[in-house]
Amino acid sequence: MPNSSTILRPLLFSAFILIGWISIVIETCVGQNIFAKAPIVYKSLPEGIQNILGAQRLTSQNFDAYLASLRKQTEERERKGEFEHLIYFALQSTRFTTLAKIEPALSAYEFVQSIESAPRLRYLQEDAYYPPTFSVPNNVLERLEKLLLALRKKPQDERQLYFKQLLTHNSIPLDGALPQLTNEYARVMKFLYRKEFLTRELQNPQQLAAYFTQLYQTRGHSTDTQIEANFIVHEALAGYKAQHPEVKLKNILIIGPGQDFAPRTDLIDVFEPQCYQPFAVADAILNLELCEASSLRIHCVDISQRVIAHLQKLPYKKENSLMLLSGIAENQNRKLATDFRNYFKRVGQSIGTESALAVPEPQQSHLAKQLNIRNEIVQKITAQNLNIVTERLAGEARFDLVIVTNVFPYFSETELALALTNIGAMMKPGALLIHNESRRELLTFAALLGLPSIESRTVLLAGVKETALYDGVVIHQKKQLN
Ligand SMILES: C[S@@+](CC[C@H](N)C(=O)[O-])C[C@H]1O[C@@H](n2cnc3c(N)ncnc32)[C@H](O)[C@@H]1O
Repeated sequence: MPNSSTILRPLLFSAFILIGWISIVIETCVGQNIFAKAPIVYKSLPEGIQNILGAQRLTSQNFDAYLASLRKQTEERERKGEFEHLIYFALQSTRFTTLAKIEPALSAYEFVQSIESAPRLRYLQEDAYYPPTFSVPNNVLERLEKLLLALRKKPQDERQLYFKQLLTHNSIPLDGALPQLTNEYARVMKFLYRKEFLTRELQNPQQLAAYFTQLYQTRGHSTDTQIEANFIVHEALAGYKAQHPEVKLKNILIIGPGQDFAPRTDLIDVFEPQCYQPFAVADAILNLELCEASSLRIHCVDISQRVIAHLQKLPYKKENSLMLLSGIAENQNRKLATDFRNYFKRVGQSIGTESALAVPEPQQSHLAKQLNIRNEIVQKITAQNLNIVTERLAGEARFDLVIVTNVFPYFSETELALALTNIGAMMKPGALLIHNESRRELLTFAALLGLPSIESRTVLLAGVKETALYDGVVIHQKKQLN
């Protein structure tokens, strides 16, 4: 018979180990200012949202299985997105080859047109179908080969280092990667052709919007980001402040800040990857006197570990600068809007000092400047990995403002309803949510969650009449407790 001390000893030992682990986890969380997370739970969903899920045959019985399938899907869409970035990098970068750059959309056109008409139609219609044989343009093959060669040597920059890791993590040997990369190319070109060329055949605006909606809900996750998104956030905040001069916004959550890594067009890789949104938001808050610098906190969440790792490293860097370029180029046919031009001139002045930025010749039609950010501001920005559809930060609602730009288009209606539920749970009563999603369903879900929209505006970015480029921005406010 075992005596009580032989039973207790292993139990005590396990308890010590457990306490040790808990304190390590707490220390790590506190040290890096990250919060515990909690999954979304069916029971806690408001009845209106449960009814919406019910219409999609989602019930308390299958909700957890649905969440598990969403997590898997997200992982797969992230993988697809990272390979999409790799292909855009391979076509456009000047860091690993002197071969001429390839414009991805033009390459998509050339590639798709080279497929015979019957298989081409099927390839464009069906997500999973690829012609049994297809020929990748020679200039693409040459660039893919050059990239693989560069990756086999010691990569020179952050992007190449990352792509090397990406291939290794996906068990793709560098010396046998070409067939896999040409398959990825054929997949990425399908998306690009659909987006850039098939949409031109749709005259009816509703049809066009529906096509885009469907395209974005299945595409790979992209981390693309441009300073323009922050202009619309600034405009929304400025409008709100004008009507509510007493408002204070101290604790801010940015969902999906993104990173300028390898965009679909206009890749500029003379600069290392950058993340603008947390800085532009800090600047807007301080510029509009929405809070004192000493009490400002900006927390960022993203599914992309690449984005989060980038943000988490910033406080440890000796200096932080941003090389800012407008995403939209100015040309004879399309002038930048005066308000946007003024915004670009001013952005950053509340968080650092600026200097002129020399940009390569092809980008000289973009507005450009360098921002050197005060260390005190960098220390206010924290980041952690989180999927806003399936989870939230646990504990009391702590945010005064939540910002989500160019993230919702990736979500189906059900995902949108869940994301809004999670967002609402993290907002204090009276807190604001700012986004640029135009789907009407969002307004319905938000109202059911006690987050009615209180203002929406259209912001002109560039051009006039037919050449005009707009974005919309909406503010919601969480209802005060009665
Ligand atoms: C297209 S970028 C937008 C970046 C930035 N907000 C902007 O407007 O320029 C979308 C970002 O959202 C992130 N994202 C996508 N789905 C997400 C989710 N379910 N939860 C958290 N982040 C997500 C992506 O990883 C990416 O960084």
